[in-house]
Amino acid sequence: MSRIAPSTAKTLDAEQLRNDFPILQQDIHPGRRLVYLDNAATTQHPTKVIQVMVACYERTYANVHRGLHALSEQSTADYELAREQVAQFIGADSPRQILFNSGTTQGINCVARAWGDANVGPGDEILLTIMEHHSNIVPWQQLAQRRGATVRFADIHDDGRLNVGHFQSLLSSRTKMVAFTAVSNVLGTVNPIVELTRLAHECGATVLIDAAQHVPHAPTDMRAWDADFVCFSGHKMLGPSGLGVLYGRQSILETMPPFLGGGSMIREVTTQGFSPGELPAKFEAGTPPIVAAIATSPAIDYLREVGLDAIHQHEVRLAGMAMEQLSEIDGVRILGPALEHRAGIVSFAIDGLNPQDISILLDRHGVAIRAGHHCAMPLHERLGIPSSCRASFYLYNTPEDVGALADALKIVVAKLR
Ligand code: ALA
Repeated sequence: MSRIAPSTAKTLDAEQLRNDFPILQQDIHPGRRLVYLDNAATTQHPTKVIQVMVACYERTYANVHRGLHALSEQSTADYELAREQVAQFIGADSPRQILFNSGTTQGINCVARAWGDANVGPGDEILLTIMEHHSNIVPWQQLAQRRGATVRFADIHDDGRLNVGHFQSLLSSRTKMVAFTAVSNVLGTVNPIVELTRLAHECGATVLIDAAQHVPHAPTDMRAWDADFVCFSGHKMLGPSGLGVLYGRQSILETMPPFLGGGSMIREVTTQGFSPGELPAKFEAGTPPIVAAIATSPAIDYLREVGLDAIHQHEVRLAGMAMEQLSEIDGVRILGPALEHRAGIVSFAIDGLNPQDISILLDRHGVAIRAGHHCAMPLHERLGIPSSCRASFYLYNTPEDVGALADALKIVVAKLR
């Protein structure tokens, strides 16, 4: 997420955009307008996306790459069009580098298994950061267990920015994989993606980026990032759940063995064995997430129309407002760095209060946030707290939503004290 110059980006009208999202039009409890601030977990769907899903089920649905009938041909064309759109959206050189799966977690597991088992051995190291989501920790720990390798963690500064000096000090010729998040799902920290990738490549390491919290929120360019693998999820970018994207460097994907075995991913199967198919089919065994992929196309259209620069700026503005308003509440500790290093995520802890209690009571005011460890237990241990509350913003959130969070939180804190 490169910093965007405010003057160059068009702005967005969140009040107007909000009207495109049917789910946001409801009162969630009697008289309580829904204030949805759990977008880092999953995002809502504009009518266009819902309509495409319905149209697909009503008129064009069939399995892809299998039938010679009209429905299958239409479904296959729509599915492959989605792949082309994703490739364009993130600046990939070819749609063959776009592998569809179930989500970011499956993408990372695919690389840890297929690439990791073939390339990581005893004594090798895998470098992560302490701010990773469990989906970018556990698959590497499993790989290390299988292959006799070691997982290392680069630390953060106390303000929640990555300690790049520590990261660099852990790189060596033993480092085979460097896997890091583009944006922390807890701290909102935007990592120096290009710098980290360059440092890792200088040591000969392969790089995987968890971009689940980046691709939906800011311009993302594979050519600028120069990473070997990048994973993200459609459901965090206005699309249906069930679609994940694994982008890979084509030369690596060509030689990487398949992850899952089954239909579609083969060239030939005999009683003696099999030979894998071409990209991308080689990594798409079984019936893929057909409708989820097809309905990701209108989600991408929507994001492009609004503009990724505008989305980024809007979210950072809301994050700034939230940091300011929440920090006025007695006992609130805002986690993560200054606004200039942050995306639209604001997590906080409150002295003596349980985040789960806070979330439950905020919900009664119509405010949906996430509470817990956010699948980042090592990070919370580093922060010295077991869990936290998280507000995460998207293009349909408004300054009024931020105000509603702050007002409700004041009432909740007073009640719990
Ligand atoms: N990874 C998602 C989150 O951070 C689910 O909430």
